[in-house]
Amino acid sequence: MIVVTGATGTVGSKIVQGLRERGESVRALLRDPAAAPAEWDAGVRPVAADFADPASLDAALAGADAVYLLVAVHPEMAAHERNVIDAAVRTGRGPRVVLHAAAGLEQRPEGVRFVGAHVSGFDHLVASGLPWTVLAPNGFYQNFLGMAAAVRAGRLTVPGGTGAVSYVDARDVADAAVEALTGEGHEGAIHTLTGPAALTHGEIAEQLGAAAGREVGYLAAEPAAALAGMLGAGWDPWRAEGMVELYGLYAAGLASAVAPDLAKLTGRPARSFAEFAAEHAAVLRGEGSG
Ligand SMILES: NC(=O)c1ccc[n+]([C@@H]2O[C@H](COP(=O)([O-])OP(=O)(O)OC[C@H]3O[C@@H](n4cnc5c(N)ncnc54)[C@H](OP(=O)(O)O)[C@@H]3O)[C@@H](O)[C@H]2O)c1
Repeated sequence: MIVVTGATGTVGSKIVQGLRERGESVRALLRDPAAAPAEWDAGVRPVAADFADPASLDAALAGADAVYLLVAVHPEMAAHERNVIDAAVRTGRGPRVVLHAAAGLEQRPEGVRFVGAHVSGFDHLVASGLPWTVLAPNGFYQNFLGMAAAVRAGRLTVPGGTGAVSYVDARDVADAAVEALTGEGHEGAIHTLTGPAALTHGEIAEQLGAAAGREVGYLAAEPAAALAGMLGAGWDPWRAEGMVELYGLYAAGLASAVAPDLAKLTGRPARSFAEFAAEHAAVLRGEGSG
């Protein structure tokens, strides 16, 4: 039985689906089991658990053979990762833990809190003695769907400077995760998951525009202005500051490497951004959900 945390989210929901397609029995963690997606069949058991509540994690992880450890972005995310790892140790079964981290993990960049939280979780996992695998994806293509209104207004404004980023499709990350959870030979591996190319935000704006059927320009925001914009829009300050740090990494060109790991895991090339944008043209044009 495989436990999937973050099971209702962007990546986790696709992992649950992929595991079921392989006939795996899944226990899916979520805070409110009443909110379990209708598409989960009898092979998926929803279990109520909170990353902040060790007792709930003990109950959720009991009997697990493997755990997909994906925590949400949160000021306590490092502690949340530790809590799940500690609960996995307490099962006494030594389940394999596949840690969902972020690209850059191996470089351990200073002052990038989201990556730093995963580094801390990773160190805890290694020290736990549990068998482990790490998936370290770069930024998701899907993040741009949240900017569809700006795309329709003809402007992509992020503090990404002129750095190129090898963004990746979250669906490809989920496919790689299914392989890491069910395949052999991944123990002790850190798989960096990227798209097939590094694109500047100017190139991304162009490709979003091509899909949306209008010209879209890229405006490289100053970090302070970007932060003020996010705070003004009601973002949690910890998260907003973290986003500016992450874009700083992007602007410095430190997220541009293209890794072969995803294709090796899935057996097919990673989806391109142009393909993703074309598939989501209706959303980008404001015409529907898909
Ligand atoms: N977005 C990116 O570009 C990117 C790139 C690389 C790595 N990452 C990493 O990916 C992770 C986020 O993945 P995602 O975008 O798939 O997540 P997401 O869509 O934000 O979903 C978060 C999931 O976590 C669950 N959750 C939230 N708080 C919880 C809590 N206290 N206890 C138990 N479950 C909780 C949610 O479940 P319920 O709300 O249903 O309870 C949901 O299933 C982060 O670790 C981030 O650092 C993101």
